[in-house]
Amino acid sequence: MKHFTSVHDVGDVHELVALAAQMKAQPRAWESVGKGRSLGLFFFNSSLRTRLSTQRAALNLGMEVTVMDASGGWQLELEDGVVMDGNAAEHIREAAGVLGRYFDLLGVRMFAGLHDRQADYEEHVLRRFLELTGKPVISLESATRHPLQSLADLLTIAQHKAIALPKIVLTWAPHPRALPQAVANSFAEWVLAAGYPLTIAQPEGFELAPQFTEGATLAYDQGEALRGAHFVYVKNWSAYHKYGLTAPQHTDWMITPEKMALTANGKLMHCLPVRRNVVVHEAVLDSAASLVLEQAENRIYAAQAVLYQLLKTL
Ligand code: CP
Repeated sequence: MKHFTSVHDVGDVHELVALAAQMKAQPRAWESVGKGRSLGLFFFNSSLRTRLSTQRAALNLGMEVTVMDASGGWQLELEDGVVMDGNAAEHIREAAGVLGRYFDLLGVRMFAGLHDRQADYEEHVLRRFLELTGKPVISLESATRHPLQSLADLLTIAQHKAIALPKIVLTWAPHPRALPQAVANSFAEWVLAAGYPLTIAQPEGFELAPQFTEGATLAYDQGEALRGAHFVYVKNWSAYHKYGLTAPQHTDWMITPEKMALTANGKLMHCLPVRRNVVVHEAVLDSAASLVLEQAENRIYAAQAVLYQLLKTL
């Protein structure tokens, strides 16, 4: 693995999940592996879990970590050949080039803008980091994917499944704001790469990009989709086709105890942060069915497994 930006960078998904499980069982057993190695984490958007879990993971491996929070509006020019007489004070060529000289491994978070689908789906910022830093790059959530989250999600499923091929349902839920498709895209991509059957339930018009869902069953009746589910992954996403459109009026898509009763004692999953009583009813979040805190905990070991693999390439 040279970089970690999607499931396509990973050789064997199940091996990586198994490594993350080993790290979870003995977090400090590899603490000499990263001695003398540095990790720089750059956030163009806010974060609680990704920032702290990746730091925690690096410390477990004995690495030095530096975090730069650029979510306050640090403007980078991304295009070549422009006259830089606007708001951007620095070009990504210099910024990424400098970062590559300061750190052994780099992580970057930059969400989708949700205005220009082509630009978002071409992953301009991530691609420039890959081109310009000369160092292994970890996606801390890009415009279209959140692979560290997805790896943690697969670890959570692996540790809770009672049968080899559980029924996994990814369901859209309402939200007052337009959110990117990254978590849902990535979850679908990883679940399918792991060979699990996947049902995706969404209102008409909220289908994800086809390149992420090939092989999944698309459903438009949420109740039918939930019937017999072992894992219910809840997430809002804005529309891919009418790009950035949201639909907070679909309040009947919130996950409630009545809907969980349709499942086969299904477990609730969500990447967090979650809006209580909008996306998921609090009675479900606070129930024994909820895995959301364990998913967040597993972010440490997902990141640790990825850092370990990338350290081996240095
Ligand atoms: N799930 C997740 O990525 O959380 P943060 O946005 O807090 O990092």
